[in-house]
Amino acid sequence: MIEDQLEDTVLWQARINGKRHELEIEPAQSLLDLLRDDLRLTGTHMGCMTGHCGACTVMVDGAIVKSCITLAASVSGRKITTVEGLENTDGSLNELQQVFWDEAGLQCHYCAPGMLLAATELLNANASPTDEDIRQAITGNLCRCTGYQSIVRAIQRAAERLRNQRAAGQP
Ligand code: FES
Repeated sequence: MIEDQLEDTVLWQARINGKRHELEIEPAQSLLDLLRDDLRLTGTHMGCMTGHCGACTVMVDGAIVKSCITLAASVSGRKITTVEGLENTDGSLNELQQVFWDEAGLQCHYCAPGMLLAATELLNANASPTDEDIRQAITGNLCRCTGYQSIVRAIQRAAERLRNQRAAGQP
């Protein structure tokens, strides 16, 4: 019965990458399933599904969360950023994405959404992170390809570029 099915859903709304979304969801649906299956935001990757690998990382109100272990219903009404939301408004790579590319910070790219969002959270809070700060910030994100060194280097380079931009008065 359609009425029975509707009773099993809840109204969900959020602003994702600056765009408002509203839909009916099941109360037990994960945020990862909502993003990938309902909204086709497949830049957020599905990995371990147990909160360990970080491939599913997104930001909720500026703080990173593992979307595989986050109930979508628990973040209704919040501001969500996925890896798709990092690019510049003209569709080009943002500074951090560009440096990851330049420094070979990613190889197979499976960990990319988590690494980029963890780095974004760090750089929003700390403009001059040490290597130790960076390693701490990406602790919850596993990479099987790079050995992490190129990722740390990329984040350091991004921090430097962003500091230079601010010093030059660029937004
Ligand atoms: Fe969520 Fe691995 S898929 S942490």
